[in-house]
Amino acid sequence: MKFLVHFYTLLLINGALSVTPCPSQDRAALLKFKSAMNEPYLGLFSTWTGSNCCQNWYGVSCDPMDGRVVDINLRGESEDPIIVKAGRPGLMAGKLPSEICALNRLSTLVLADWKNISGEIPACITSLPFLRTLDLVGNRFSGEIPAEIGRLSRLAVLNLADNQFTGHIPTSIVQIQSLMHLDLSNNKLSGPLPSDFGWLRMLSRALLNRNQLSGPIPASISRMNRLADLDLSRNQFSGQIPTSIGQMSVLSTLYLDMNHFSGSIPATILKMPGLSILNLSRNEINGEIPDVFGERSYFTSLDLSWNNFRGKIPQSMARALFIGHLDLCHNHLCGQIPKGSPFDRLEAASFVSNDCLCGLPLKACN
Ligand SMILES: *[C@@H]1O[C@H](CO)[C@@H](O)[C@H](O)[C@H]1NC(C)=O
Ligand SMILES: *[C@@H]1O[C@H](CO)[C@@H](O)[C@H](O)[C@H]1NC(C)=O
Repeated sequence: MKFLVHFYTLLLINGALSVTPCPSQDRAALLKFKSAMNEPYLGLFSTWTGSNCCQNWYGVSCDPMDGRVVDINLRGESEDPIIVKAGRPGLMAGKLPSEICALNRLSTLVLADWKNISGEIPACITSLPFLRTLDLVGNRFSGEIPAEIGRLSRLAVLNLADNQFTGHIPTSIVQIQSLMHLDLSNNKLSGPLPSDFGWLRMLSRALLNRNQLSGPIPASISRMNRLADLDLSRNQFSGQIPTSIGQMSVLSTLYLDMNHFSGSIPATILKMPGLSILNLSRNEINGEIPDVFGERSYFTSLDLSWNNFRGKIPQSMARALFIGHLDLCHNHLCGQIPKGSPFDRLEAASFVSNDCLCGLPLKACN
């Protein structure tokens, strides 16, 4: 009997959950969004009808207790049956209307890979206190990243890659203490990295490649002890590579290629135990390559090509545990190429266009 009572109570609660309709305010905001967008191929928005936007509206999820909209998750390229069935990636045009900000319980806003959503991010987006994921990758968004983005204190994922954003990275970004994944790559951002960038202590990936960012790497970066992937490649960064990067305990990939970094390469970086991919190609780095490799050195890829390195190739490189891909071409190196691994299996292309390197795989030394 007692069991039955429980059973019926559960049924009642469950029944109540599935029919809790979304408030009309949330529904109105979604309909405004729908009317601002044009999605001609999949017909996603044909599911956005009826009074209950918590039921079967494609990509919309609600809080089961009060029916408030918490997730909008629309991906133009995914394994979702509706996309697979269409046999083509999605295409959507339109502008994100500011009415979206009425959804003030929103936790996820994903409008990814629709190619043609344009216009600015409405500034009011920074007033959505529960937003954890903002993913607008792969569209034609333009204008600046909202200056007050730092108000999104719960934001964990900010992905604005592959758009046409301009202006500076807002300094307020360093206030987002929960930020774990930042991807701003392939935009038209300019100006420096905020000097307090290193305050983002939860950040594990920072992908800022393919912009027009400039200035030095802020020294504060070494405080980021969860950062595993840092990609600053294909920008206009300059100055010395900070020695303190060597203190970043979990950094495993570091892409600094195609910038204007100068000065010498800090030995501390080459000695980092976890760093497995380092690309410094196409900078203006000079001095010698520090002779600090050893049994703990493990690089799947080490690309130092197209710089101004002088002196010899360090003998200690041949003592590294593993160096997969090594590229030293287009520098001013001289002397005999060391023998042993990895040198015995590399091709000449890794060593060409230096001042006077010799020995296998180049021609013998005199
Ligand atoms: C992208 O949207 C614009 C209007 O914003 C339209 O003129 C253009 O044809 C669209 N491009 C594609 C590939 O549909
Ligand atoms: C390093 O960066 C350069 C320039 O962006 C690129 O051409 C090269 O392929 C990269 N090296 C590796 C090993 O990925």
